[in-house]
Amino acid sequence: MESKKELRKLISMRKKQVPLEERRRRSVPVMERLMVLPRFRKAQNILFYWAMQDEVATQDAVIACAAAGKNVFLPVVDGDFLRIRRFSGQAALTPGESYAIPEPVEGSEEVRISDIDLVVVPGVAFDMDGGRMGRGKGFYDRLLAGASDCSQGGPYKVGVCFDFQVVDAVPREAHDMLMDAVVCESRTEIIRNDNRVCSVFGIRYPIVSGGMVWCSGWRLASAVSAAGGLGLLGAGSMRPELLREHIASCRAATDKPFGVNVPLMSPYAAELMEVVLSEKVPVVFTSAGNPKTWTPRLKDAGVKVAHVVSSSKFAVKCAEAGVDAVVAEGFEAGGHNGREETATMVLVPQVRAAVSLPLLAAGGIVSGAGMAAAFALGAEGVQVGTRFALCRESSASEEFKQLCLGLKEGDTMLALKKVSPTRLIKNDFYAQVQEAEDRGASKEELVELLGRGRARQGIFEGDLSAGELEIGQGVSLISDLPSAADIVRSMVDGYRRAVAGMEVL
Ligand SMILES: Cc1cc2nc3c(=O)[nH]c(=O)nc-3n(C[C@H](O)[C@H](O)[C@H](O)COP(=O)(O)O)c2cc1C
Repeated sequence: MESKKELRKLISMRKKQVPLEERRRRSVPVMERLMVLPRFRKAQNILFYWAMQDEVATQDAVIACAAAGKNVFLPVVDGDFLRIRRFSGQAALTPGESYAIPEPVEGSEEVRISDIDLVVVPGVAFDMDGGRMGRGKGFYDRLLAGASDCSQGGPYKVGVCFDFQVVDAVPREAHDMLMDAVVCESRTEIIRNDNRVCSVFGIRYPIVSGGMVWCSGWRLASAVSAAGGLGLLGAGSMRPELLREHIASCRAATDKPFGVNVPLMSPYAAELMEVVLSEKVPVVFTSAGNPKTWTPRLKDAGVKVAHVVSSSKFAVKCAEAGVDAVVAEGFEAGGHNGREETATMVLVPQVRAAVSLPLLAAGGIVSGAGMAAAFALGAEGVQVGTRFALCRESSASEEFKQLCLGLKEGDTMLALKKVSPTRLIKNDFYAQVQEAEDRGASKEELVELLGRGRARQGIFEGDLSAGELEIGQGVSLISDLPSAADIVRSMVDGYRRAVAGMEVL
C-alpha cells in the first residue's frame, strides 16, 4: 500500500491524466452498485458529503439520485460547522464539461443529521486522512457527532470510490471512518448491515443454529459462530456440569458470540441457568415454557434473551417479558412443536404483526431460498435446526444422519400430541405410538410408552428402530452432509441469489 503522500500524488496525477469523460464513464458502474444497495433503495433522505466542482462523477450521482426521486441534501460550510440543506432539483447542476459548484439553492430548507437516512461519502474522502484533502474529517466527525442520539446509530454511511479513485480494493481506513458499506468499481463490501438480529447478538449473518438435543454440542455451535452465524449449545440433553464443559470448549474454539438453548421443561432448567449465568454466556434462547420465568433475571445479568413461540399470542407474552428477540417456529420444524400446528408461512406474518421485536423464523428453512421466503414474510433472521442436525459437526450418530439423507416428503409426522407434540421419523417406535394414539391411549400410557432416554437412543446412539427420531419436514430437501461453515455460506449465497432472481411483476 502506498504512503498517504504517494497516494495524494497518484490521485492528483490521475485527475490530470484521465480525461473527464473517461472518469465519468468509470463512475457509472459504481453508481449502479450504489443504487441497488438495499439500504440505499430504502433511504429517502440522502446526504452527499461533498460534491465539489471538480468531482464530476459525484455531481452526476447527485443528479441521478434526485432524478430517482430521493431527497438529496448537501453540506454547506458555516464557520466551523456544516449545515445540511436540500438540493432543490437540477438547476444548480447542468451536465457539461465543467459543473457549477452544486451549492444548495439559497433559502432551501435546512435539516438535522438525524433526518438523514444515508450519507454518501464520495471518493478519497475516506482514504486520505479519513477526510477530504483540505476540509474533511473534522467536519465529518462533528456532523456525525450530531447523530449520536439517533435511533439505531444514526444514518447509514456508504463510502463510494467514484471518479479518479486510484484504489479499487476497499481501503482499511473505511473501517476506521465507521463506513457501513463501501462501493468500488468492481465490488461492494457491506461492513454493517442494519439487520436487528445481527446487531442484538453481535453477529455477521442472521442465521442461528437452533438448540437440538443430541446434535448441537460445542463442535456445531462453535463452527456456526465462527462462520458468522450464532451457534447455540442445546442444553436440553445436558446436565449442568456437561453444559459447563461444552461452554468452555466452545470458548476455546471460537472468540465469536455463541448462545445456549435452555428448554424450560428440562428438569435441570434452574441449574442450567445458574451455569449460564456464572459462565457469563452472552446469549440464551429459551423454549418450551413461560418467557417471564427467566427473562428478567437473565436481562439483569446483561444476557441477550430470545424465546421460541408457536403462536402470536405467546409472542406478545415475550414482548411483555422484555426479551430481545422472538423466534416464530412453525409446524414443519424438527423437535417439539406447537399444539395448534400453525405452519411457518402462516405464523411468521402474524407474529410480525403482533410484535415489533426482532423476529427470527424457524421451521422448514433449509436453504437461502427458504430464508428469503421467511424475510419476505417479515422475519429478520432464521433459526435453523434440521439442516444443521445433518452436517459434519452435528453430534448425531452416523446411522441417524444416513437414514435422514434418504427420507422423502411425508416420512416425518407429528406425534405424541397428548404429551408434547413432537415431529418424528416413521420408524417402529413411531408405529407403536400411532397404534396407541389411534386407539385413544391416555397421556399416562403414552408417557410410559415413551419411557426415558429414547431420543438419545435414536439420535445419538443410532438405534433406528426403537429410538425416538426427531427431525423436521425439511429433511426431504437435504441430500448431503456438508460442514456447518458451508451451510452458513450457501445460505447467504442462496439468499442473495433468491432475492436477486425474484420474479418482477
Ligand atoms: C433433532 C432436533 C432436536 C431439537 N431439540 C430442541 C431443543 O432441545 N430445544 C429447542 O428449543 N428446540 C429444539 N429443536 C428445534 C430447533 O431448535 C429448531 O427450532 C427447529 O429445528 C427449526 O426447524 P427446522 O428443523 O425445520 O429447521 C430440535 C430440532 C431437532 C431437529
